[in-house]
Amino acid sequence: MVSLVPTISSTISRLNLLPKSSFHYTLRGLRTLQLQHKQRSPVWFPLNSSFNRLSANLSFSNFNSPKPRNENPAIMDDDLVVLGIETSCDDTAAAVVRSNGEILSQVVSSQADLLAQYGGVAPKMAEEAHSQVIDQVVQEALDKANLTETDLSAVAVTIGPGLSLCLRVGVQKARQIAGCCNLPIVGVHHMEAHALVARLIERKLQFPFMALLISGGHNLLILARDLGQYIQLGTTIDDAIGEAYDKTAKWLGLDLRRSGGPAIEELAREGDAESVKFSVPMKQHKDCNFSYAGLKTQVRLAIESKKINAEIPISSASSQDRISRADIAASFQRVAVLHLEERCERAIEWALKIDPSIKYLVVSGGVASNQYVRSRLNQVVMKNDLQLVCPPPSLCTDNGVMIAWTGIEHFRVGRFDPPPPANEPEDTVLDLRPRWPLGEEHAEGRSDARSLRRARIHPSLTSLIQASMQQQS
Ligand code: KG4
Ligand code: ZN
Repeated sequence: MVSLVPTISSTISRLNLLPKSSFHYTLRGLRTLQLQHKQRSPVWFPLNSSFNRLSANLSFSNFNSPKPRNENPAIMDDDLVVLGIETSCDDTAAAVVRSNGEILSQVVSSQADLLAQYGGVAPKMAEEAHSQVIDQVVQEALDKANLTETDLSAVAVTIGPGLSLCLRVGVQKARQIAGCCNLPIVGVHHMEAHALVARLIERKLQFPFMALLISGGHNLLILARDLGQYIQLGTTIDDAIGEAYDKTAKWLGLDLRRSGGPAIEELAREGDAESVKFSVPMKQHKDCNFSYAGLKTQVRLAIESKKINAEIPISSASSQDRISRADIAASFQRVAVLHLEERCERAIEWALKIDPSIKYLVVSGGVASNQYVRSRLNQVVMKNDLQLVCPPPSLCTDNGVMIAWTGIEHFRVGRFDPPPPANEPEDTVLDLRPRWPLGEEHAEGRSDARSLRRARIHPSLTSLIQASMQQQS
């Protein structure tokens, strides 16, 4: 069963289980890329190395050119065609994107039903759901693009951060395709992809720029100085805003099948945002970090005091009960977003001190699909003479386009891994990075609260890239 939802220049499909397919592959574009980048050797990180080996001793791929079967020396940068695969959380997504920015296809299979049933992501269930649909999602992306694997230049896949059981499904699929077709592979940072997809839709968006990345698991304020070069201005010390939206929706008995965020956004339109007095988090902390755990508790207490029963779905609630729920939704949303506004104001100040040439604030990640969030942040940005760049909602929530595009950006500068062996054994140790910071923390933004939780964190993307560049020079 396939239903189609239109988007900017492509088609997204949300699909359910269908039979598996098999693949036959060849290579295209790699040789040309190697010629174009022959001055720079590739500096991506092996996807099949173990976490320990990688953190102890950073190693880089030595690209030994495989013999391309479809050699075409006329292929230019803008002829690259990359398949992107995303399975870091609860959406199985794939897309095919051309390096000129054309989205050839976009497919998302969401685990919304599981989410509604369990009220959150259960890793083992999510892994099973990814495994069931991954072949179909990828095949559908190729079919919609009117391509076969033989037309691809590379495969990009999310390697972190995220749930390792889920990441594994996407990485195995990417390696299977890349191995069979002799294609290079690019390991992508999920949060970098949320930020960089803005450069696909806004071609004027050059580095440096700022980004606020707001999703179910992350709340990040970054200064993007260059590709792979990020300064982390702020992050959450506990929960992300998307988690707060999802829990509030669950406790208010809303329909979670489209996830909690859209349900709260809709209900909040009926409510009085000033009616319930929630306090804005972290007022006393003059930094750019976030906290949503306390606001969640305030919401839960308000729900209890109004005797709202989440077992009664909102569709069956009395009109008075519905008004109470709408008031809580609206009041929660106002304060949750005020927290974003305050942190963005300060981050803009900090970022402009570091680099006064910044002109844009990108707002991306699932929560950035929210119209109220967009309009409030637009006010902040305009007040500071900056411009807001928000990808369309289908590119804010998890998707394969952002992974393919980020793969293209890194591939162009020679950061990729060589094709894995064909028929790689299933027990190969994969390089998955469940906890993987994007950049180094800005000195002023360092939070003591989080320093206790740094166990098993992978070196940041920025530090890995800097180390590789130093090694090369
Ligand atoms: O980026 P994303 O798709 O996945 C993660 O990387 O986490 O973000 C998912 C989050 C969920 O918490 C969802 O409730 C939230 O984004 N979200 C929204 C809206 N659409 C999705 N939150 C508020 N308003 C929305 N319209
Ligand atoms: Zn995401």
